[in-house]
Amino acid sequence: MTADPSTGQPTDPSGHQHEHPAPPPQLPQRTRHTTGAGHDADLVIAPFDLIQAMMDAVPDFAALHTAVELGIFELLSHEKLTSAELAACCECHPTAMRRLMRWLHGGRFVTLDCDRYLLTPYGQVLTAGAERSQRHAVLVTGSSYWWDAAGNLTETVRRGHPAWSTGLSPYDYLAHHPTIGREFDLFMKARSAAVGQDLAAFDFDHVRTIADLGGGLGGVLAAILRKHPHLRGILADREDVVDRARDHLATQGLADRIQLAAGDLFNHIPHGAEVYLLSSLLHNFSTAQGVALLTAVRRTIEAGGHPAEVWIVQGMLPGLAGQPSRWYSTDARMLSLFPGDGVQDRDAMFRMAREAGLRVRKTNQLPASQQTLMIAHP
Ligand SMILES: C[S@@+](CC[C@H](N)C(=O)[O-])C[C@H]1O[C@@H](n2cnc3c(N)ncnc32)[C@H](O)[C@@H]1O
Repeated sequence: MTADPSTGQPTDPSGHQHEHPAPPPQLPQRTRHTTGAGHDADLVIAPFDLIQAMMDAVPDFAALHTAVELGIFELLSHEKLTSAELAACCECHPTAMRRLMRWLHGGRFVTLDCDRYLLTPYGQVLTAGAERSQRHAVLVTGSSYWWDAAGNLTETVRRGHPAWSTGLSPYDYLAHHPTIGREFDLFMKARSAAVGQDLAAFDFDHVRTIADLGGGLGGVLAAILRKHPHLRGILADREDVVDRARDHLATQGLADRIQLAAGDLFNHIPHGAEVYLLSSLLHNFSTAQGVALLTAVRRTIEAGGHPAEVWIVQGMLPGLAGQPSRWYSTDARMLSLFPGDGVQDRDAMFRMAREAGLRVRKTNQLPASQQTLMIAHP
């Protein structure tokens, strides 16, 4: 057995690739300046190459989305297929399919056994059955609403609010288009699995009921309830989401421990919890809406007459301008989609809580999700 010089992976004498290839090419990273203003020596990638890599990411993502939408990963999760067989199954042009498969092979999403393609681990994570499937994230990100919103960012920045408008906000769009609405719920569930893992590790001995506001399919709540059998949950979200969550929770045997509350949170916050959780919710809104929502939660707690806490889980921007952070990408996405203020830094989140009449008791950096938990109370 010899080693492939480009990957360091063993190759077998037949020349076939093995199932654990090197990672696909990554978008090159810059190092940030640590002192002074930009010296060329601080840059680990040439400016020209960085921009080229960012531009290449656009057709790369389009090709990936196409492969997911055509169902190529699902087909290959069942059997090895040739490019011609895939073209026939997907009702596609054989030459175009050959070029798409060549791209997937070059990106290490598939490998070849003679002339039949099979999935690598990078392809497997794009199947619906994968533990934290990325299939749903790709389908939503490449869907017409999300894609066109990104393409209209210039006009959005000119106007100060999303220029791409079908007349519907993203959530109203999802309610009117249940196929993509379902994909969005599953995208959020996969994305927030790490939050569930983080929060389940906390001590809930003093708590009987957790209300998850904007909790989607209830993935975070389910993770906490599974680890703490004495707990009950309230899952609050929009009507169409709660309808989908009902079936989803029933299949997990949690239906009798979770009460569902369907409707607009700006009209009604459910009563009766000791912990009110808002996970990745506030970045969808303006600061004024965030203050209004937190004020409504505080009033619900005060009206209940017994102590309760507000747990806010959010990705937060670094306090120091210019520091690298993955949350800038999330904020750019929020800018294209929502008329709100997007992802905020810690100080802005503290101010929001204070204006809503809440005192922040402590903050935690959550290790698995890399988000911040702020615990506040009236
Ligand atoms: C970004 S997702 C986060 C889902 C989940 N909390 C998580 O961490 O994965 C925001 C959720 O809030 C819900 N939501 C947004 N605005 C809402 C409103 N006004 N009333 C009720 N639910 C709302 C959405 O339907 C969606 O499920």
